Amino acid sequence: MTNFPSRLSRAFALAASLLAATSLATGAAHAQDAEGIVVYNAQHESLGRAWIDAFTKETGIKVTMRQGSDMQFANQIIQEGDASPADVFLTENSPAMTLVDGAGLFAPIDADTLAQLPDNYRPADGMWTGVAARTTVFAYDKTKLSEDKLPKSMLDLADPNWKGRWGAAPAGADFQAIVSALLELKGEEATAAWLKALKENATPYKGNSVAMKAVNAGEIEGAIIYHYYWFGDQAKTGENSKNVALHYFKNEDPGAFVSVSGGGILKSSQHMKDAQAFLKFVTGKAGQQILKDGDSYEYAVGNGAESNPKLVPLADLDAPKVEASKLNSKKVTDLMTAAGLL
Ligand SMILES: [Fe+2]
Repeated sequence: MTNFPSRLSRAFALAASLLAATSLATGAAHAQDAEGIVVYNAQHESLGRAWIDAFTKETGIKVTMRQGSDMQFANQIIQEGDASPADVFLTENSPAMTLVDGAGLFAPIDADTLAQLPDNYRPADGMWTGVAARTTVFAYDKTKLSEDKLPKSMLDLADPNWKGRWGAAPAGADFQAIVSALLELKGEEATAAWLKALKENATPYKGNSVAMKAVNAGEIEGAIIYHYYWFGDQAKTGENSKNVALHYFKNEDPGAFVSVSGGGILKSSQHMKDAQAFLKFVTGKAGQQILKDGDSYEYAVGNGAESNPKLVPLADLDAPKVEASKLNSKKVTDLMTAAGLL
């Protein structure tokens, strides 16, 4: 009991020094927040720009955007580790998110941000969030194929009947996300067999737009792409899609896969408050409205958020149920390499 007062005063001294340290740290964080945040944007440049400009206009927070692709940035972030200059990472597809999450580099997303989305558009661990979505489609030459001639399932394209008649962009993250869904839904053996048939039957193109152009030009009868390439072209001149229509596989087919675009915050961020505010904005009313009104033609995923009325509603796509966080990009690139596609 005799040393109680001195213990007490030590405790006070400790509390006081903690308080001082905290306010110093807060002060420092505040000063850094004033510099703004860095976003590694692997989403389409125009969509990333639209979100960032609207966010800066509303909050005054400066954002520096760096443009790249899903896997390029995911690997870069992993290499940079704690020294990464990125505060936020935005992707087109979720496998790149899962890769960074698996490396333990994300900070938990604020609960009020996660609450803005239904739980099928975000991973259970809450370490990143969906920001938008896109659906797989078969873009076909409507001058050559009538509806009764269309494949019932994406897996039907493995049939020798389809040899030389279809295409895809196998090197891209978009297509690889579709393969990762196939892997999750049908397993390794079925996926390897489908990829082998793809190698034999399909023409590889550099990107979804190029594959759609090839359909439009009559080089191939159809291509597996994402829906928004067609809508985007139609909204402009339609010159790369005038002969093209979209076939939605529905029926929970692997070809009806809806891929979730992700947003994550690096745990090494020195601007945590602003980074969290950015993802809250993107997944909130104003950010999701940009998907409805802008020219991305990607789906909005926020609670109650509407997508562009030109799109087939998300709820009508009858997409297969795939947990985004289970999509395995490593296994997919291994299988695609083994099939001679990469
Ligand atoms: Fe894309």
